[in-house]
Amino acid sequence: MHIFIAGGSGQTGSLVIDDLLGQNHTVTALVRNTAAIRNRIGLDLVQGTPVHKADIQKSFSHQKPDVVIVTLASAKGTFEKGSFLTHVICNIVSVMEEYSTDKIVYMSAFGVGDSYPELNFLMRAAVCITPLGGKFLDHEGAEQVLKATDRINFVVVRPAMLTTGDKGKVKFLGLRREKWEFMPSITRASVAGFIVEAAGSQEWIGKTPVISNA
Ligand SMILES: NC(=O)c1ccc[n+]([C@@H]2O[C@H](COP(=O)([O-])OP(=O)(O)OC[C@H]3O[C@@H](n4cnc5c(N)ncnc54)[C@H](OP(=O)(O)O)[C@@H]3O)[C@@H](O)[C@H]2O)c1
Repeated sequence: MHIFIAGGSGQTGSLVIDDLLGQNHTVTALVRNTAAIRNRIGLDLVQGTPVHKADIQKSFSHQKPDVVIVTLASAKGTFEKGSFLTHVICNIVSVMEEYSTDKIVYMSAFGVGDSYPELNFLMRAAVCITPLGGKFLDHEGAEQVLKATDRINFVVVRPAMLTTGDKGKVKFLGLRREKWEFMPSITRASVAGFIVEAAGSQEWIGKTPVISNA
């Protein structure tokens, strides 16, 4: 497969790139600072930002991707609260439609949208009174854009709290997190593995899997 990734310079995104290249896929990564990623065979680094549709088009023009992966974090400052990811996903969906790329795997978070009531009371309070609320709002907007498209197959991955560490067994907790655990967590390496698997499979299309480590 050829993959376009937005967010490839991030902690999870860089692990996604490692996994993809390790499985002999090829990758175009759109990044603000190309020096932030080690260039390797199979990896095409494009300088720019998904905030600008023209930069996404430039990336797609290098090689049309089979699948898009997004591992961006909500931007600080420049965008109105909760609007960065939504704006970026609108741009990406529009370029995907232009190039007839019909699959996207989007990294959201457990607690976004209809999974919010499943958070424990501490996390729900954090969403209400800390900047986490704005980030979740942004993910929710992006999820809604994806759910509203009819020509694109989406997978919205909703990981539990991210940790560092090795790739471990991934537990599917439901589409909102129906299997109760007080404070589930998952390593970024495990999330990266799940995202790459989802990119190449039909299993999670149209779904919002909440995942943690087993
Ligand atoms: N922390 C948790 O426990 C948790 C749990 C579940 C889900 N999540 C979600 O997981 C996602 C990925 O997390 P992570 O820790 O891997 O992210 P990260 O390391 O913070 O990486 C963020 C990525 O977003 C890019 N980015 C940020 N602001 C940008 C902007 N204004 N314009 C263009 N690119 C921008 C960064 O690019 P630069 O390198 O250029 O800055 C980087 O590639 C986040 O959306 C987060 O909400 C987090």
